[in-house]
Amino acid sequence: MTADTDALREALLHELAEAREPDEVERVRVKFLGQKDGSITTLIRGTNFGALDKDERRVVGNELSGLKSFAETAIRDARQQVEAVAARQRRRGLVDLTLPGERVNVGSINPVNTIQLFLEDVFRGMGFMVEQGFEVETEYYNFDALNVARDHPARDMQDTFWLDSGALLRTHTSATQVRAMRKYGTPLRAIFPGRCFRYEALDASHETSFYQCEGLMVDRGVTVANLLSVMQTLLRQVFERDVSVRLRPGYFPFVEPGFELDLSCLICSGEGCRVCKHSGWVELMPCGMVHPRVLEAAGVDPETHSGFAFGLGMTRLAMLKYGIPDIRLFDSGDWRFYRQFPATV
Ligand code: DAH
Repeated sequence: MTADTDALREALLHELAEAREPDEVERVRVKFLGQKDGSITTLIRGTNFGALDKDERRVVGNELSGLKSFAETAIRDARQQVEAVAARQRRRGLVDLTLPGERVNVGSINPVNTIQLFLEDVFRGMGFMVEQGFEVETEYYNFDALNVARDHPARDMQDTFWLDSGALLRTHTSATQVRAMRKYGTPLRAIFPGRCFRYEALDASHETSFYQCEGLMVDRGVTVANLLSVMQTLLRQVFERDVSVRLRPGYFPFVEPGFELDLSCLICSGEGCRVCKHSGWVELMPCGMVHPRVLEAAGVDPETHSGFAFGLGMTRLAMLKYGIPDIRLFDSGDWRFYRQFPATV
Protein backbone atom coordinates (compact mmCIF):
# COMPACT_ATOMS: atom_id res chain seq x y z
CA MET A 1 0.00 0.00 0.00
CA THR A 2 2.71 2.50 1.00
CA ALA A 3 4.62 1.71 -2.20
CA ASP A 4 1.47 2.39 -4.24
CA THR A 5 0.78 5.74 -2.60
CA ASP A 6 4.41 6.87 -2.88
CA ALA A 7 4.44 6.03 -6.58
CA LEU A 8 1.18 7.93 -7.08
CA ARG A 9 2.51 10.99 -5.25
CA GLU A 10 5.61 10.96 -7.39
CA ALA A 11 3.70 10.48 -10.63
CA LEU A 12 1.31 13.27 -9.69
CA LEU A 13 4.10 15.74 -8.90
CA HIS A 14 5.91 14.83 -12.09
CA GLU A 15 2.85 15.44 -14.25
CA LEU A 16 1.98 18.69 -12.50
CA ALA A 17 5.51 19.97 -13.06
CA GLU A 18 4.97 19.44 -16.80
CA ALA A 19 1.67 21.29 -16.88
CA ARG A 20 1.91 24.81 -18.41
CA GLU A 21 -1.75 25.67 -18.93
CA PRO A 22 -4.77 25.55 -16.62
CA ASP A 23 -6.45 22.85 -18.75
CA GLU A 24 -3.32 20.71 -18.53
CA VAL A 25 -3.58 20.90 -14.72
CA GLU A 26 -7.26 19.95 -15.04
CA ARG A 27 -6.30 16.91 -17.14
CA VAL A 28 -3.91 15.83 -14.38
CA ARG A 29 -6.66 16.32 -11.79
CA VAL A 30 -9.07 14.12 -13.75
CA LYS A 31 -6.36 11.52 -14.25
CA PHE A 32 -5.70 11.21 -10.50
CA LEU A 33 -8.86 12.37 -8.73
CA GLY A 34 -11.58 12.00 -11.41
CA GLN A 35 -14.82 10.42 -10.06
CA LYS A 36 -14.95 7.78 -12.75
CA ASP A 37 -11.49 6.34 -13.04
CA GLY A 38 -8.95 8.70 -11.45
CA SER A 39 -6.10 6.53 -10.23
CA ILE A 40 -6.33 7.75 -6.61
CA THR A 41 -10.14 7.46 -6.66
CA THR A 42 -9.82 3.94 -8.03
CA LEU A 43 -7.26 3.00 -5.40
CA ILE A 44 -9.52 4.22 -2.60
CA ARG A 45 -12.60 2.63 -4.10
CA GLY A 46 -10.79 -0.67 -4.62
CA THR A 47 -9.65 -0.94 -1.01
CA ASN A 48 -11.68 -3.53 0.83
CA PHE A 49 -11.86 -1.98 4.30
CA GLY A 50 -14.16 -4.76 5.49
CA ALA A 51 -11.33 -7.26 5.07
CA LEU A 52 -9.04 -5.26 7.35
CA ASP A 53 -8.89 -5.37 11.09
CA LYS A 54 -9.42 -2.24 13.15
CA ASP A 55 -5.80 -1.13 13.40
CA GLU A 56 -5.08 -1.85 9.75
CA ARG A 57 -8.19 0.04 8.77
CA ARG A 58 -6.96 3.10 10.65
CA VAL A 59 -3.48 2.98 9.10
CA VAL A 60 -4.73 2.39 5.57
CA GLY A 61 -7.52 4.93 6.01
CA ASN A 62 -5.05 7.57 7.14
CA GLU A 63 -2.69 6.82 4.31
CA LEU A 64 -5.37 7.04 1.66
CA SER A 65 -6.97 10.21 2.97
CA GLY A 66 -3.48 11.71 3.35
CA LEU A 67 -2.79 10.85 -0.29
CA LYS A 68 -6.06 12.40 -1.40
CA SER A 69 -5.56 15.66 0.43
CA PHE A 70 -1.92 15.78 -0.71
CA ALA A 71 -3.17 15.46 -4.30
CA GLU A 72 -5.84 18.12 -3.84
CA THR A 73 -3.35 20.58 -2.36
CA ALA A 74 -0.71 19.92 -5.02
CA ILE A 75 -3.26 20.37 -7.81
CA ARG A 76 -4.62 23.59 -6.29
CA ASP A 77 -1.10 25.04 -5.95
CA ALA A 78 -0.17 24.03 -9.49
CA ARG A 79 -3.34 25.64 -10.86
CA GLN A 80 -2.62 28.91 -9.03
CA GLN A 81 0.94 28.99 -10.29
CA VAL A 82 0.02 28.32 -13.91
CA GLU A 83 -2.72 30.95 -13.80
CA ALA A 84 -0.39 33.54 -12.30
CA VAL A 85 2.19 32.95 -15.05
CA ALA A 86 -0.51 33.14 -17.72
CA ALA A 87 -1.81 36.41 -16.24
CA ARG A 88 1.68 37.89 -16.19
CA GLN A 89 2.25 36.95 -19.82
CA ARG A 90 -1.10 38.38 -20.81
CA ARG A 91 -0.10 41.64 -19.16
CA ARG A 92 3.34 41.83 -20.79
CA GLY A 93 2.77 40.05 -24.05
CA LEU A 94 4.96 37.08 -24.63
CA VAL A 95 8.51 37.91 -23.70
CA ASP A 96 11.44 36.09 -25.17
CA LEU A 97 14.30 37.04 -22.89
CA THR A 98 16.86 35.76 -25.36
CA LEU A 99 15.96 38.41 -27.97
CA PRO A 100 18.25 41.47 -28.20
CA GLY A 101 16.74 44.60 -26.63
CA GLU A 102 14.94 47.22 -28.70
CA ARG A 103 17.02 50.33 -29.42
CA VAL A 104 15.32 53.50 -28.24
CA ASN A 105 15.68 56.30 -30.77
CA VAL A 106 15.96 59.60 -28.98
CA GLY A 107 16.18 61.63 -32.18
CA SER A 108 18.98 63.92 -33.20
CA ILE A 109 19.39 67.53 -34.18
CA ASN A 110 19.76 68.52 -37.81
CA PRO A 111 23.35 69.82 -38.17
CA VAL A 112 22.05 73.11 -39.59
CA ASN A 113 20.08 73.67 -36.39
CA THR A 114 23.14 72.81 -34.34
CA ILE A 115 25.09 75.44 -36.29
CA GLN A 116 22.28 77.98 -35.85
CA LEU A 117 22.05 77.49 -32.07
CA PHE A 118 25.81 77.74 -31.86
CA LEU A 119 25.93 80.96 -33.93
CA GLU A 120 23.17 82.51 -31.85
CA ASP A 121 25.19 81.77 -28.76
CA VAL A 122 28.44 83.21 -30.10
CA PHE A 123 26.79 86.35 -31.47
CA ARG A 124 24.78 86.98 -28.31
CA GLY A 125 28.15 86.87 -26.55
CA MET A 126 29.27 89.76 -28.79
CA GLY A 127 26.16 91.80 -28.03
CA PHE A 128 24.09 90.87 -31.11
CA MET A 129 20.34 90.31 -30.93
CA VAL A 130 18.61 87.50 -32.83
CA GLU A 131 15.68 88.34 -35.12
CA GLN A 132 13.90 85.77 -37.27
CA GLY A 133 12.35 87.89 -40.02
CA PHE A 134 9.74 86.45 -42.40
CA GLU A 135 10.01 83.63 -44.92
CA VAL A 136 7.25 85.22 -47.00
CA GLU A 137 8.47 88.69 -47.88
CA THR A 138 7.55 91.65 -50.01
CA GLU A 139 9.47 92.54 -53.13
CA TYR A 140 10.34 95.79 -51.40
CA TYR A 141 12.30 94.33 -48.47
CA ASN A 142 13.81 91.48 -50.45
CA PHE A 143 14.98 93.65 -53.38
CA ASP A 144 14.07 97.37 -53.60
CA ALA A 145 15.17 98.40 -50.12
CA LEU A 146 18.44 96.56 -50.73
CA ASN A 147 19.27 98.58 -53.83
CA VAL A 148 18.71 95.61 -56.14
CA ALA A 149 17.83 97.18 -59.49
CA ARG A 150 14.43 96.52 -61.04
CA ASP A 151 16.05 94.68 -63.93
CA HIS A 152 18.45 92.68 -61.78
CA PRO A 153 18.43 89.03 -62.91
CA ALA A 154 17.92 87.85 -59.31
CA ARG A 155 14.32 89.04 -59.50
CA ASP A 156 13.72 86.81 -62.44
CA MET A 157 11.26 83.96 -62.44
CA GLN A 158 14.37 81.82 -62.79
CA ASP A 159 15.59 82.59 -59.28
CA THR A 160 12.65 83.68 -57.18
CA PHE A 161 9.51 81.85 -56.06
CA TRP A 162 6.76 84.42 -56.56
CA LEU A 163 3.38 83.96 -54.90
CA ASP A 164 0.08 84.79 -56.61
CA SER A 165 -0.39 87.68 -54.19
CA GLY A 166 2.77 89.37 -55.55
CA ALA A 167 4.72 88.48 -52.40
CA LEU A 168 7.68 86.13 -52.65
CA LEU A 169 9.61 83.55 -50.67
CA ARG A 170 12.69 85.42 -49.45
CA THR A 171 15.74 84.60 -51.52
CA HIS A 172 18.11 85.71 -48.77
CA THR A 173 18.07 86.71 -45.12
CA SER A 174 19.29 90.18 -46.17
CA ALA A 175 15.56 90.89 -46.53
CA THR A 176 15.41 91.40 -42.77
CA GLN A 177 18.08 94.15 -42.71
CA VAL A 178 15.88 97.14 -43.41
CA ARG A 179 12.98 95.75 -41.36
CA ALA A 180 15.29 95.46 -38.33
CA MET A 181 16.85 98.93 -38.74
CA ARG A 182 13.38 100.46 -39.01
CA LYS A 183 12.15 98.51 -36.01
CA TYR A 184 15.08 98.99 -33.64
CA GLY A 185 16.95 102.05 -34.98
CA THR A 186 20.66 102.47 -34.24
CA PRO A 187 23.03 101.45 -32.81
CA LEU A 188 22.15 97.95 -33.92
CA ARG A 189 23.90 94.61 -33.74
CA ALA A 190 21.73 91.77 -34.96
CA ILE A 191 21.76 88.44 -36.74
CA PHE A 192 18.87 87.03 -38.78
CA PRO A 193 19.16 83.27 -39.10
CA GLY A 194 16.61 81.46 -41.23
CA ARG A 195 15.40 79.61 -44.26
CA CYS A 196 15.68 81.00 -47.77
CA PHE A 197 14.28 79.81 -51.07
CA ARG A 198 15.48 79.83 -54.64
CA TYR A 199 14.27 78.29 -57.81
CA GLU A 200 17.40 76.22 -58.41
CA ALA A 201 18.32 73.17 -60.39
CA LEU A 202 19.23 70.60 -57.74
CA ASP A 203 22.71 69.20 -57.38
CA ALA A 204 25.14 68.35 -54.58
CA SER A 205 25.53 72.02 -53.65
CA HIS A 206 22.17 73.55 -54.70
CA GLU A 207 18.80 73.10 -53.03
CA THR A 208 15.56 75.07 -53.48
CA SER A 209 15.68 75.78 -49.78
CA PHE A 210 18.73 76.47 -47.62
CA TYR A 211 19.67 78.32 -44.47
CA GLN A 212 21.54 81.59 -44.08
CA CYS A 213 22.51 83.73 -41.17
CA GLU A 214 22.59 87.41 -41.99
CA GLY A 215 24.58 89.71 -39.73
CA LEU A 216 24.32 93.45 -39.39
CA MET A 217 26.10 96.00 -37.27
CA VAL A 218 25.29 99.70 -37.64
CA ASP A 219 26.65 102.50 -35.51
CA ARG A 220 28.76 105.63 -35.73
CA GLY A 221 32.22 104.85 -37.05
CA VAL A 222 31.86 101.14 -37.93
CA THR A 223 34.67 100.06 -40.31
CA VAL A 224 35.99 97.01 -42.16
CA ALA A 225 38.26 96.39 -39.16
CA ASN A 226 35.17 95.73 -37.02
CA LEU A 227 33.87 93.33 -39.65
CA LEU A 228 37.15 91.42 -39.73
CA SER A 229 37.52 91.13 -35.99
CA VAL A 230 33.93 89.90 -35.54
CA MET A 231 34.45 87.33 -38.29
CA GLN A 232 37.73 86.12 -36.85
CA THR A 233 36.24 85.73 -33.36
CA LEU A 234 33.33 83.83 -34.82
CA LEU A 235 35.32 81.46 -37.00
CA ARG A 236 37.83 80.67 -34.28
CA GLN A 237 34.91 79.43 -32.18
CA VAL A 238 33.19 77.57 -35.01
CA PHE A 239 36.28 75.65 -36.08
CA GLU A 240 37.88 75.49 -32.63
CA ARG A 241 41.26 76.70 -33.83
CA ASP A 242 42.96 79.79 -35.15
CA VAL A 243 41.97 80.53 -38.72
CA SER A 244 43.18 83.15 -41.16
CA VAL A 245 40.76 85.11 -43.28
CA ARG A 246 41.22 87.35 -46.28
CA LEU A 247 38.95 89.72 -48.16
CA ARG A 248 38.60 89.83 -51.92
CA PRO A 249 36.48 92.39 -53.74
CA GLY A 250 32.97 91.16 -54.50
CA TYR A 251 29.89 92.83 -55.90
CA PHE A 252 26.50 92.92 -54.18
CA PRO A 253 24.09 95.81 -54.72
CA PHE A 254 23.48 96.34 -51.00
CA VAL A 255 27.11 96.82 -49.94
CA GLU A 256 29.85 99.24 -50.93
CA PRO A 257 32.56 98.12 -50.88
CA GLY A 258 31.55 94.46 -51.10
CA PHE A 259 33.81 91.50 -50.35
CA GLU A 260 34.14 87.79 -50.49
CA LEU A 261 35.61 86.55 -47.24
CA ASP A 262 37.85 83.54 -47.64
CA LEU A 263 38.98 81.15 -44.95
CA SER A 264 42.40 79.51 -44.88
CA CYS A 265 41.77 75.93 -46.01
CA LEU A 266 41.01 73.72 -43.01
CA ILE A 267 42.04 70.54 -44.78
CA CYS A 268 45.57 71.55 -45.78
CA SER A 269 46.07 74.60 -43.50
CA GLY A 270 46.82 76.72 -46.54
CA GLU A 271 49.34 74.37 -48.17
CA GLY A 272 47.03 73.72 -51.13
CA CYS A 273 44.83 70.65 -51.70
CA ARG A 274 41.91 69.47 -53.81
CA VAL A 275 39.26 71.01 -51.54
CA CYS A 276 40.74 74.51 -51.91
CA LYS A 277 41.66 73.83 -55.54
CA HIS A 278 45.32 74.29 -54.54
CA SER A 279 44.80 77.93 -53.61
CA GLY A 280 45.03 77.46 -49.84
CA TRP A 281 41.71 79.37 -49.39
CA VAL A 282 38.03 78.44 -49.37
CA GLU A 283 35.32 80.94 -50.17
CA LEU A 284 33.20 81.30 -47.04
CA MET A 285 30.90 84.28 -47.06
CA PRO A 286 30.04 87.45 -48.86
CA CYS A 287 30.02 90.66 -46.85
CA GLY A 288 30.63 94.38 -47.07
CA MET A 289 29.90 97.85 -45.78
CA VAL A 290 26.17 98.62 -45.88
CA HIS A 291 25.36 100.70 -48.97
CA PRO A 292 24.28 104.29 -48.17
CA ARG A 293 21.03 103.73 -50.11
CA VAL A 294 20.17 100.82 -47.83
CA LEU A 295 20.79 102.95 -44.74
CA GLU A 296 18.60 105.66 -46.24
CA ALA A 297 15.79 103.17 -46.96
CA ALA A 298 15.97 102.26 -43.27
CA GLY A 299 15.85 105.90 -42.12
CA VAL A 300 19.50 105.91 -41.00
CA ASP A 301 21.71 108.86 -41.97
CA PRO A 302 24.71 107.60 -44.00
CA GLU A 303 26.60 110.81 -43.18
CA THR A 304 26.76 109.97 -39.50
CA HIS A 305 26.40 106.19 -39.47
CA SER A 306 27.99 103.24 -41.18
CA GLY A 307 27.69 99.49 -40.86
CA PHE A 308 28.81 96.12 -42.07
CA ALA A 309 26.70 93.18 -43.18
CA PHE A 310 27.46 89.60 -44.00
CA GLY A 311 25.54 86.63 -45.35
CA LEU A 312 26.75 83.44 -43.75
CA GLY A 313 25.52 80.27 -45.45
CA MET A 314 24.62 78.07 -42.48
CA THR A 315 24.03 75.07 -44.69
CA ARG A 316 27.40 75.58 -46.30
CA LEU A 317 29.05 76.07 -42.91
CA ALA A 318 27.52 72.80 -41.66
CA MET A 319 28.85 71.03 -44.77
CA LEU A 320 32.34 72.42 -44.12
CA LYS A 321 32.36 71.76 -40.40
CA TYR A 322 31.00 68.19 -40.57
CA GLY A 323 32.39 67.22 -43.97
CA ILE A 324 28.93 66.65 -45.49
CA PRO A 325 29.35 66.07 -49.22
CA ASP A 326 25.80 66.66 -50.52
CA ILE A 327 23.36 69.46 -49.57
CA ARG A 328 20.37 67.26 -50.42
CA LEU A 329 21.06 65.10 -47.35
CA PHE A 330 19.88 67.83 -44.94
CA ASP A 331 16.20 67.63 -45.84
CA SER A 332 16.30 64.04 -47.08
CA GLY A 333 14.47 62.67 -44.04
CA ASP A 334 16.99 59.82 -44.16
CA TRP A 335 17.55 58.58 -40.63
CA ARG A 336 20.91 57.04 -41.59
CA PHE A 337 22.12 60.60 -42.13
CA TYR A 338 20.57 62.25 -39.07
CA ARG A 339 21.57 59.53 -36.59
CA GLN A 340 25.23 60.47 -37.10
CA PHE A 341 24.63 63.75 -35.30
CA PRO A 342 24.27 64.00 -31.54
CA ALA A 343 20.95 64.57 -29.81
CA THR A 344 22.35 67.44 -27.79
CA VAL A 345 24.01 70.67 -28.75
N1 DAH B 1 22.29 88.13 -49.60
C1 DAH B 1 23.41 87.61 -50.35
C2 DAH B 1 23.05 86.29 -50.97
O1 DAH B 1 22.20 85.64 -50.51
C3 DAH B 1 24.58 87.39 -49.47
C4 DAH B 1 25.18 88.64 -48.92
C5 DAH B 1 26.17 89.31 -49.60
C6 DAH B 1 24.75 89.15 -47.71
C7 DAH B 1 26.78 90.42 -49.09
C8 DAH B 1 25.34 90.30 -47.19
C9 DAH B 1 26.37 90.91 -47.90
O2 DAH B 1 24.97 90.81 -46.03
O3 DAH B 1 26.95 92.02 -47.36
O4 DAH B 1 23.65 85.93 -51.93
